[in-house]
Amino acid sequence: MKFGVMGTGQVGTTIGGKLQALGHDVVFGSRSLEGGKASRVGAETGIRVASHQEAAEHGEWIVNALPGEHAIASLTGCALDGKILVDIGNYEAAVDGPIAMPLGQALQAAFPAVRLVKTLNSVSAHLMVDPDSLGADHSVFLAGNDAAARAEVETLLRAFGWRSILDLGDLEACRAMEELVPMWMRLFGKFGDPNFNLLVVRQG
Ligand SMILES: NC(=O)c1ccc[n+]([C@@H]2O[C@H](COP(=O)([O-])OP(=O)(O)OC[C@H]3O[C@@H](n4cnc5c(N)ncnc54)[C@H](OP(=O)(O)O)[C@@H]3O)[C@@H](O)[C@H]2O)c1
Repeated sequence: MKFGVMGTGQVGTTIGGKLQALGHDVVFGSRSLEGGKASRVGAETGIRVASHQEAAEHGEWIVNALPGEHAIASLTGCALDGKILVDIGNYEAAVDGPIAMPLGQALQAAFPAVRLVKTLNSVSAHLMVDPDSLGADHSVFLAGNDAAARAEVETLLRAFGWRSILDLGDLEACRAMEELVPMWMRLFGKFGDPNFNLLVVRQG
């Protein structure tokens, strides 16, 4: 499968590297084509770094690993229609205040023909692609308006190693998912490292 991964930060490079290790064909979408960053990321990952538009042309699936505040502007003009957009992003502003419209819903509204699936946004980057490294079960959520797209993303999450996957249904769930960001930050402050996650336990 061909992926365009938008953003070359911690999340983008982690997800891109895992997708490549699973045999997928990845191109990063980046603002930073000039100067050292693109060549450093390219050399470190072995993944081509291109513009957001080129990466989107390449991808059958798109991954949003951009700061929420800049995602819509960066994805505008990209070939997204009909593709699955895996949205991992959060608004930085969600850390310490309520958000008017969750990012997942805002992206779906901005790009109505995309098959958006929100997932992994409340999980530390290194655990996204190696959940077993925590040494205990823990949970990941997903949501999207297209049930078939949710099922395809669930299959990808299983390939990443996830077992406790909670499909929350349509994109109304984005608010609850994105409001986990302040909890993540609070726990990070308590523990002093990102080696934790939540587990949902249900009787029966
Ligand atoms: N880090 C985590 O553990 C974690 C966990 C869950 C969710 N998330 C979410 O996942 C997303 C990515 O996280 P991250 O830690 O990788 O973020 P990041 O390092 O802050 O940014 C990711 C990339 O976005 C691009 N970018 C930065 N500022 C931009 C701007 N003004 N306009 C366009 N592109 C810009 C940069 O790539 P280029 O220089 O190549 O353009 C940057 O490397 C965020 O929304 C974050 O909230 C992060």
